[in-house]
Amino acid sequence: MDKKKTILSGVQPSGVMTIGNYIGAVRNWTQMQEDYNCLYMIVDLHAITVRQDPVKLRQRCMEFLALYLACGLDPSKSTLFFQSHVHQHAELSWALSTISYMGELSRMTQFKDKTKNKQDANIGVGLFTYPVLMAADILLYQADLVPVGIDQKQHLELTRNLAERFNHQFGDMFTVPEPYIPKIGAKITSLSDPLKKMSKSDENVNSFISVIDEPDVILRKFKRAVTDSGSEVKRGEGKEGIENLMSIMSAFTGKTFEDIEGEFQGKGYGDFKCAVAECVIDELTPVRERYYDYLKNKDYLQSVYKEGAERASYIASKTIKKVYRKLGFVDKL
Ligand code: TYM
Repeated sequence: MDKKKTILSGVQPSGVMTIGNYIGAVRNWTQMQEDYNCLYMIVDLHAITVRQDPVKLRQRCMEFLALYLACGLDPSKSTLFFQSHVHQHAELSWALSTISYMGELSRMTQFKDKTKNKQDANIGVGLFTYPVLMAADILLYQADLVPVGIDQKQHLELTRNLAERFNHQFGDMFTVPEPYIPKIGAKITSLSDPLKKMSKSDENVNSFISVIDEPDVILRKFKRAVTDSGSEVKRGEGKEGIENLMSIMSAFTGKTFEDIEGEFQGKGYGDFKCAVAECVIDELTPVRERYYDYLKNKDYLQSVYKEGAERASYIASKTIKKVYRKLGFVDKL
C-alpha cells in the first residue's frame, strides 16, 4: 500500500508569478515531488473572485501551467491540473459553507484587506467564501501537508477547524492538514514598500520581480528597490528593505544571513543589490527559457492538464461520495 503523505497546493492565475510565489511556494513544491503524493492546481475558480477578462484569464491559465513545468514540476511525479476541471471542488465548498460561520470568515485578514474601503453592497460574496473553497481544495484530497507562504496560514487554520468540525458532527471523514511554511522567504515583501507583501496583482510593476522578467529588468528593479538611508547590509529596526533583499539572496543561494552580512561588510547597497539581482538571474534564466519552450507546445500542455484532471477527479469523486453519504444524501445510482 502507498504510505506516502499527500501534499496539495495552488496558485491563483492572476497577474504574473512573482519570486514571492516562487520562493514561498512553488520552488518548495518541486523538492517535495520525490517524497510525497503531490497535487498542484492552478486555482482558476479562486481567480474569478476578482474581476477577470475571460480571454486573458484563459491565456494566463496556460501560461501558469507552462510556468509550473518550467519551475520543475514533473507531471510524471505530480498531478497538475486546473481547479475548474474537477467539479467536486465547488460541491465540497458548498457543503463546507453550511458549517462555516459568518464570524470566522469575517475575521480573515485577506478578506479584510481586499474589501478595505469598499461598501458592503459592492463586495462580491465570492471574496467572503473564498477560504471555504480553499478548504474544500485541501480536504478533497485528504492532504496531510500544504506548502504555502505565511499569508495563507490563517486560511489553513480555518481549513483545520472546518475539518475537525465536520469530523465531529458527521463522524471521521477528513485528514486535518498541517501548513508547511518555509523558514526563509515565507513573506517576500514589495520592492517599493518593504512593509507590504510582494503581490502579483500590484499595479506598480517595479514592486515585484516576475519569474519570467528579462535579466536587465530584474537588475533595474533591484537597483530601484526601496531601502533605508544607511549603508550597512545587515538586519535591524527600519532596515526591512535590506532584510527583504537578504531573504531573497538567502533563498536563492542557501547563504545564511550571517554569511551575507559578512560578505558585504564595508560594501555599499549598490554592490549588494547587483549581487542579489545576479543570483536571481542565474536561477531564473533557465526557468524563463523552459517556459517559452513549454508555452509553444500546446499539445503537450493539453496532455498534462487532461491527465491531471483525470487523476484528481478520481480521488475527488471518491471523497465527495463519502461526504454526501455522511451528510445523509441518497446514493446516486
Ligand atoms: P496566491 O496565488 O496568492 O499565492 C500562491 C502561493 O505563493 C505564496 N506567496 C508568497 N510567499 C512568500 N512571499 C510572498 N510575497 C508571497 N505571495 C504569495 C502564497 O502564500 C501561496 O502559497 N489562496 C491561495 C491559493 C490556493 C491554495 C489552495 C493554496 C487556493 N486553494 C489550496 C494552498 C492550498 C492564494 O491565493 O495563493
